[in-house]
Amino acid sequence: MDQAEVKKKIDALTAELKEHNYRYYVLSEPTISDFEFDQKLKELAYLEQQYPDLAHDDSPTKVVGGGVQNEFKTIKHRRPMLSLGNTYNDQELRDFDARVKKAIGHEVEYVCELKIDGLAISLFFENGKLKQAITRGDGVQGDDVTANVRTIRSLATTLHGQFPESFEIRGEIFMHRKGFEKLNQERQLQGEPAYANPRNVASGSLKLKDPAEVAKRPLDITLYHLLGDNLPFDTHHHCIQAAKSWGLKTADTTEVCKGIDEVLVFLKKWDEKRHYLGFDTDGVVIKVNNLALHDELGYTAKVPRWAIAYKFQTETTSTRLLGITYQVGRTGAITPVAELQPVLLLGTTVKRASLHNANEIGRLDVRVGDMVFVEKGGEIIPKITGIDFSQRPADSEPTSYITHCPVCHTALIRNEGEAQHYCPNEDACAPQVIGKIEHYVSRKALNIDSIGSEMAKLLYEQGLVNSFADLYNIQFEDLIGLERMGEKSAQNIIDGIAGSREVPFERVLFGLGIRYVGETVAKKLAAAFGNINNLMHASKEELLAVDEIGEVIADSLLRYFADERHTTLINQLKKAGLQLEKAESAAPQSDVLKGLTFVISGVFTRFSRDEAKDLIEANGGKCSGSVSSKTNYLLAGEGMGPAKLEKATSLGVNIISENDLLAMLGNPSTESPTNNPSPPAQNTLF
Ligand code: IVH
Repeated sequence: MDQAEVKKKIDALTAELKEHNYRYYVLSEPTISDFEFDQKLKELAYLEQQYPDLAHDDSPTKVVGGGVQNEFKTIKHRRPMLSLGNTYNDQELRDFDARVKKAIGHEVEYVCELKIDGLAISLFFENGKLKQAITRGDGVQGDDVTANVRTIRSLATTLHGQFPESFEIRGEIFMHRKGFEKLNQERQLQGEPAYANPRNVASGSLKLKDPAEVAKRPLDITLYHLLGDNLPFDTHHHCIQAAKSWGLKTADTTEVCKGIDEVLVFLKKWDEKRHYLGFDTDGVVIKVNNLALHDELGYTAKVPRWAIAYKFQTETTSTRLLGITYQVGRTGAITPVAELQPVLLLGTTVKRASLHNANEIGRLDVRVGDMVFVEKGGEIIPKITGIDFSQRPADSEPTSYITHCPVCHTALIRNEGEAQHYCPNEDACAPQVIGKIEHYVSRKALNIDSIGSEMAKLLYEQGLVNSFADLYNIQFEDLIGLERMGEKSAQNIIDGIAGSREVPFERVLFGLGIRYVGETVAKKLAAAFGNINNLMHASKEELLAVDEIGEVIADSLLRYFADERHTTLINQLKKAGLQLEKAESAAPQSDVLKGLTFVISGVFTRFSRDEAKDLIEANGGKCSGSVSSKTNYLLAGEGMGPAKLEKATSLGVNIISENDLLAMLGNPSTESPTNNPSPPAQNTLF
């Protein structure tokens, strides 16, 4: 390369890496893997070293990446939030150890911590109270997200014990995979495309403007770096133990290792065990334990010399893109799917990967026939990270996104500001109609369990049902004529449909499948408007006045009810005798359970889990998904998870049966609890 070419290369790499930093730190939407990023950074660092005059002053090799969002107040960090150097194999780690030992002159002790894949946060405590929470931002200044961070249940905002008057503590905010999956299920129930991974959701959640919305996201935190003036600790491990004793959440997987060999044992152990954790880890952070040595080792421009990250390998392979297919969801959302030559990745055969939307296809410039790089971490859904352009067939054609629905051939639409294309033919596009019927009969909606996916499809294909309102016109004779339909199954379907007439209004409302109207929103709307007529005629202001209803939901409702097809549908449901009015609550209303938090686990004989939840809430109590020190009662049913029981026992939570609950509500049981574990005496109030 001559000088001009090198300059061109440096300029291009600098610009590209800045863009990736912005995507990673600001948008929380990285488009390349950490490994690819580091490769590019290394290439740039190498070129800059050879040609220092061509390096940019603000090169990504010199500064911590990122930018600051303007929506929240920007706050300067008391001390810059630095990044960590990365290593990808044992040798690079041994090199790090050699550098440390050379600088110090002897063996050192390390602390190994799992590197959780979330987003970094800096917390400032004064007199034992959380004062401020700031995102990393560009490392120098970040966003004040205190109100949002306060909603994280595992974070103690008031400390106990002996703590320094003021200190800063940093950590990672993240989401457990279970919570993530639940959130995605809810999103899909609302007909929305799924989120890509827990990290993106965690990061997106913190940027929400409404803390009440954030509180609904199951975020967690782990704290790993204590900072302050004249702290009375001499090792990093003591700092973390102290933080734990003040009530702050720290990792319980951390280990002190005598030297680099012990560190390598830790790495090997967790490279396997990490797959069984409930959250994503992308590596291990190795820190010199002795704090005096931190000062001695110091920092480079952007990373400490006393710590390093070891990244677990993600597996990348390449395979051929055989085709791109397009899926149509219940709401008409189109998702492009890469159909791949099957390939083995981390023990599973990968045949398909989501291409998300037209923008993603454009960004990758992916074409049928390309060899594509497919990447999978231990737990992450496979993704296409790039194209092997050197193998692109000479006759390859750029991908043109479909303009018409692959199923019903209607012209697609794309609303302004949205990435997804939609098929607007909601009445006659088979996957949409079938998807809507499936949703309508689903457990949390009308709960017609004799109709599953296959049956919904069959009923539609046989012309018996063109919308869920048609279910109410089906006769036994219509069903019995269908292939492989026995009398019993036919009767079950008829009974199921009839039974759905008793389902309360809020679940009918949920069953309509209005975009963004999930289970909770439906409940709020039913409570606020009482019946469908009031809701249909509500103005935007009236909708917005309801707790938790924002612009997006209000607009979606207005759009839905403005469409004549929907008013016709609702009239059909009215005629069919569905509950379109909120019944006077059957559950006894009281505040007997006010201030009490319950966790419900297992199966009950006298009510379903959802009914138990309604009962508790109707009497002023709260329900939570997991047992914590804030839990007052664990309502234990048959088949309850042993982990929950163990945790509740160790925290001294009262474990009660369904009869105990009814007794608390003044409805003492006459039956003895046969199906439920008897609560241990010392834990039971009743
Ligand atoms: S220490 C100067 N410890 O990794 C010390 N970081 O690549 C800097 N991270 O920005 C951080 N787990 O978001 C540290 N146990 C841990 C960590 C951890 C995850 C993240 C953190 C940081 C990034 C650096």
